[in-house]
Amino acid sequence: MATGAVGAGAPAWPRTVAVIGAGTMGLGVAEQFAAAGLTVRITDRSPEATAQAYDRLMQRVRGHAAAGIMPPEAVERCAAVTANPDLAATVDGVDFIFEAVFEQQEVKDDVLARLSRAARPDAVIVSNTSSFPIDDLAEHVLNAERFLGLHWFNPPEWTPGVEVIPHDTTDPAAVTQVVAFLRAIGKRPAVVRSAPGFVANRIQNALFREALACVQDGLASPREVDEVCRSTFGFRMPFFGPFLIADMAGLDVWESAAGTMERAYGERFQMPPILHDLVAQGKLGTKTGAGFFTYTPEERDQLLLERDRRYAALNELLARLPPIVAGTDDREE
Ligand SMILES: NC(=O)c1ccc[n+]([C@@H]2O[C@H](COP(=O)([O-])OP(=O)(O)OC[C@H]3O[C@@H](n4cnc5c(N)ncnc54)[C@H](O)[C@@H]3O)[C@@H](O)[C@H]2O)c1
Repeated sequence: MATGAVGAGAPAWPRTVAVIGAGTMGLGVAEQFAAAGLTVRITDRSPEATAQAYDRLMQRVRGHAAAGIMPPEAVERCAAVTANPDLAATVDGVDFIFEAVFEQQEVKDDVLARLSRAARPDAVIVSNTSSFPIDDLAEHVLNAERFLGLHWFNPPEWTPGVEVIPHDTTDPAAVTQVVAFLRAIGKRPAVVRSAPGFVANRIQNALFREALACVQDGLASPREVDEVCRSTFGFRMPFFGPFLIADMAGLDVWESAAGTMERAYGERFQMPPILHDLVAQGKLGTKTGAGFFTYTPEERDQLLLERDRRYAALNELLARLPPIVAGTDDREE
């Protein structure tokens, strides 16, 4: 099961959580929290929206249980979630508050101000914002030292990565507590600084910009671009990030390719100096024993073997899975 903590006992903290805004993200997060054994409350912007959110939560978890990707007890645990349209009553006395309302500045500011006034003074409050600087949101939170950004990805039950984003005066103890909680429920948190797009969306948007440009320039259709991405560099990314991939490829090779693209496409392809500095020092990656990381000969051999083992396993998994839907999966054609 992808939800690591299901059946493994609930984490020690938090015991009670409130999810504010039960849409695409809030519902998935509520499902995972409930499945992990936490006491969960949800609220939305009206009595009707809150009642519908509860129905959608049940539909969602039943679908997952029927597909065998959530255990049967997750259905009972979600049935025990309480749905109340009253924001203050929803956050009253809980340990942890997850805000996932619309990505609109005035809505977030208002909801964060109201919920932080109604919350226990030591309740940890997080916002799932995808784009607003956490320092700006913190200005609306009472006792902002217990506030931080917590950027989950869709679908939240299954995407392991979560960006943890403290602002300037977040209490480091709150960060430690939240990181431990995320790990306990099977997530892979990374603490990053607050800046527009944080880390994930900044990189994802750069990829999307170039994908659009390839189509706009007539190089390939959207289907061909998707195929290239998922089957080449994207195929490697379940296991490795860009730095380890670059180390295994050779930083001199990447620097040279980067130069070709910079000459062709200009400033947007200019590499930050960190790459040129490493190459100038002879740190070319695994082949020289150092690049962004360092490797003994044994570590390098082990890395390359484990890489190949994972790629072989992923190819087998892809061959075994059923097709997705017509139009998105080339095996359907
Ligand atoms: N959808 C994604 O892929 C994604 C990924 C990461 C982060 N986020 C962020 O998560 C947040 C929620 O996004 P979403 O995709 O779930 O949006 P959504 O529109 O599906 O859900 C937002 C929910 O908030 C509710 N809401 C709005 N105002 C409210 C209020 N005043 N009080 C209570 N509830 C209120 C809405 O009725 C709705 O159910 C946003 O900040 C978004 O940027 C979204």
